[in-house]
Amino acid sequence: MSSPRPTSAQASRANTPLHFRDVDLDVSKSYKHEDESEAHQLYRQAAGHKVKGTILPQTVNPDEETVPGIQHPGSTGVIYCSDRAQANGFNYASSHEWSNLGQGAPEVGPIPGAPDRPLKVEYDNDALEYAPTTGVKALREAVANLYNTTYRQGKASQYTYENVCIVPGGRAGLSRVAAVIGDVYCSYQVPDYTAYDQMLSAFRRLVPVPTALDPEDHYNLDIKQKDIHTQGLAVIIASNPRNPTGQVIKGKDLKELVDISRESTTTVILDEFYSWYIYHDDDKDIGKSISSAEYVEDVNQDSVVINWRLPGWRICWVIGPKNLITALSQSGSFLDGGANHPLQLAAVPLLDPQHVHSERIALQKHFKMKRDHVLKRLKAIGVEVTLPPVATFYIWLNLENLPDPINNGLTFFEELLKEKTIVIPGIFFDINPAHRRNLFNSPCHHFVRLSFGPPLEDLDKGIDAIARVLRKAKKEGMRSFGHSYRRSIDGPASLTSHV
Ligand SMILES: Cc1ncc(COP(=O)(O)O)c(C=O)c1O
Repeated sequence: MSSPRPTSAQASRANTPLHFRDVDLDVSKSYKHEDESEAHQLYRQAAGHKVKGTILPQTVNPDEETVPGIQHPGSTGVIYCSDRAQANGFNYASSHEWSNLGQGAPEVGPIPGAPDRPLKVEYDNDALEYAPTTGVKALREAVANLYNTTYRQGKASQYTYENVCIVPGGRAGLSRVAAVIGDVYCSYQVPDYTAYDQMLSAFRRLVPVPTALDPEDHYNLDIKQKDIHTQGLAVIIASNPRNPTGQVIKGKDLKELVDISRESTTTVILDEFYSWYIYHDDDKDIGKSISSAEYVEDVNQDSVVINWRLPGWRICWVIGPKNLITALSQSGSFLDGGANHPLQLAAVPLLDPQHVHSERIALQKHFKMKRDHVLKRLKAIGVEVTLPPVATFYIWLNLENLPDPINNGLTFFEELLKEKTIVIPGIFFDINPAHRRNLFNSPCHHFVRLSFGPPLEDLDKGIDAIARVLRKAKKEGMRSFGHSYRRSIDGPASLTSHV
């Protein structure tokens, strides 16, 4: 079954833009502080999300930490959002009634023009043994070959299997990397992928150093900025293409970033999870992906990359200098024990460069069509995307122009749950949001992340839900917004009265 292109009926479902000038704004809800907002109070009540270190000098919350020796790390944004969705009735049986634009995953069904995906895996008895913690050699070779063919033709230094570590998923790869970072400054940016927050704080040797990216500058990572050179950063970690902004560091800028790892004593870790999801302006470029591997000079010196696409397989890889791979083998031996053996064997033919190329062409055409469709519909209902994504499958949506309180991401998220739609509030991409004393001051406060990973029908359902919220705001004013959020599926409809 292939996902259809948007029909004219779908296009005409787009509503005329709404203007909020005349809306009854209910001034009592012009919130300035999180204490006034029910959505924010709910977030604070979830385990691990209380303000830390304000009243008591300690950094743990005594009400939560009742199991001796155990501290809540705080759930990642996506998990908090699924918990809240479940409290509003979302479950696997009812999921077809919902639009999940929060899930950071691509649709995995067939897409037009893409090679078939294996739905059965055969393996022999040997595959029931543990695989090595660095992965099966044939798969490591297949990854090295894919990168050499795609990015390193004609270059003297080529990847071998010793530059590849197979890991059980992206987060496992990142945790293995974080576990081997020593007592050094580790730079990350805001906004970026939510799990870096817990990952960087779980491994307590490294010192995380945040840099806020500037929306005016399209969230560009300015590597010439003084901090990178003067702060003695030993490690820089960044997603590229960038989650959640959908931007990408490429060409000369990417080259300069890779050069840092050669010219200074800094290791650049680029999480290239979305490197196949690039939307080219020129059709002749369709099928091209972007990776720092193109700018690496000596494969045993320069940066590290992480990638792959069938999320349910939990097979992923890290590429880097041999001595990094041996360190990752060691951290894998106590963290996760290695990736699934039978699926590693099944992944080998999928990494054939020709196969990957056809997959990328199909992916890029299909996801570009979905991106354009969503952008067009959002514009039609009056929420124009100021920074359209050029990569990934995320839209970083600024709600600032909507009326209070649906102009903040957490409240907008709660209102959409009432309409059976899930998005991710922007604050989760502000690394360590719970540590802010007023979440309203977060640079991500006015944003949500919408995913166009799901099939087109689901995207339309979600945009219809956004349109309903906006229509209600226009018609009834803002009095019915910002409250009456369900605490649990069995609990009372409202957490509190009107906060
Ligand atoms: C930048 C980035 N890295 C890693 C991951 C997680 O990978 P996995 O689901 O394979 O653990 C994601 C998933 O959303 C991501 O956005």
